[in-house]
Amino acid sequence: MRVRAMIALLAAGLVIGVVGVDWLHSFAPRRLSAATMGVMDTGDRPAAADNGGRHSPPEGHHGGAIGGHRHGGVMSVDRLVAPSGPPDRRFTLRAEQAGPHHYLINGRTPGPELRVRQGDLVEVTLINESVAAGVTLHWHGVEVPNAADGVAGVTQDAVPVGGRYVYRFVVRRAGTFWYHSHQLSHEQVLGGLLGALVVMPRHPSAGVVDRVALTHLYRGRRTINGAVAPMMITVPAGGSLRLRMINTDNGPVPVQVGGAAFRVLACDGSDLVGPTEVTGRSLTLTAGGRIDLGLSATPATVTISGIGLIKINGGGPLPAAAQPELDLLSYGRHVPVPLATATPDRRFDYVLGRRPGFVEGRPGLWWTINGHLWPRVPMFMVAEGDVVRMRIVNHSGDVHPMHLHGHRVLVLSRNGVPSTGSPWWLDSLNVRNGETYEIAFLADNPGIWMDHCHNLTHAADGLVAHLMYEGVDTPYRIDRDNEPE
Ligand code: C2O
Ligand code: CU
Repeated sequence: MRVRAMIALLAAGLVIGVVGVDWLHSFAPRRLSAATMGVMDTGDRPAAADNGGRHSPPEGHHGGAIGGHRHGGVMSVDRLVAPSGPPDRRFTLRAEQAGPHHYLINGRTPGPELRVRQGDLVEVTLINESVAAGVTLHWHGVEVPNAADGVAGVTQDAVPVGGRYVYRFVVRRAGTFWYHSHQLSHEQVLGGLLGALVVMPRHPSAGVVDRVALTHLYRGRRTINGAVAPMMITVPAGGSLRLRMINTDNGPVPVQVGGAAFRVLACDGSDLVGPTEVTGRSLTLTAGGRIDLGLSATPATVTISGIGLIKINGGGPLPAAAQPELDLLSYGRHVPVPLATATPDRRFDYVLGRRPGFVEGRPGLWWTINGHLWPRVPMFMVAEGDVVRMRIVNHSGDVHPMHLHGHRVLVLSRNGVPSTGSPWWLDSLNVRNGETYEIAFLADNPGIWMDHCHNLTHAADGLVAHLMYEGVDTPYRIDRDNEPE
């Protein structure tokens, strides 16, 4: 009896010990450098000989683990900036806390719609009037220089009350984008710290009515441009409409059109090639994603989640409840893309799962990336000029809108089926449970870039990885004042 009891006690001790070690490892340092966090992944390239792939030098050891490709020292994210000189457009955005979970920009939410022209050097001064936890602005989908990316604790410190930060970037691509806070984003974006950014082409075509329809749930209420009432649009005879739909929510929303044919002109700020006219098809607007619809001057009704209404020229019939989905994998005309996707320099896996464990000492059923819980998330290492291929696999039981900062990515295939439509560039990819996507991108924007789930509550629970260029480092720290998620 005594021996058995001893064995039981030892076994229990062992289990407690193992769980305890897991628990201890679930804590990140109180001041975490994005440049040294996680597990280094060089994407088939041999890791620097001295660290065997683990990427965890002691705190305060700036950039020491970056490897052998230093090229004359470490570049701070602070120095990755837009050209100097006077901007073409200047804006001032004042962030304000209007209630415990309610935020305004220039007195409203969504904040002002910023409209600029392709090629403009844009300068935005963010002033924090009263957001107690601090605030930043991230330019979702725009390939800004890293110093303008607006991620608290990675590319800047959160702006405290009374402080300011100047964002400068050139908008190279015409398209639909948006901006939002990247300090405590799961709280501040939900509460309204966001707005639309439209980059108009240098020479817009005549006769096009160009409107933004930004949808957001405020305390569970579906809104379009901040209003619950239907949005009314008039398109003069002979003209056409470009309807820029932006989803700022945590989940995907279905978009349907009743009474008229439409085209999908663009996805995530990239024009599609050869978009054909379709009727009676529904679209999925990814969380964080944008879709530009093209419609003619006829009565039509666009629904968002079946609730939000946009009435064009008085409105058309409501769309049928069940419509087959329009798949952008096979929509539009296939043309070659000048990107050597068959011979990439790096290959990465981003496998999304879920398992029980501890994050910051809290027990739970947590998201995993490549089998690990936060903070043992991958650090995808690249060098400037690399062609990168990434396989995103989701067996986590939930949908994840995957968003890479600072780059646009090209969809190569889904579940092994290659893209046969227009080149499908995006920055917010709706990855459903059970799906596998192959994507590719060109590493042409040095910095440290988040690569995370845009369901911001998932991100706050650790669904965050980073893409890092060799030779780049950050002086900022994720800590009590800088909480990007
Ligand atoms: Cu729209 Cu990391 O963000
Ligand atoms: Cu997610």
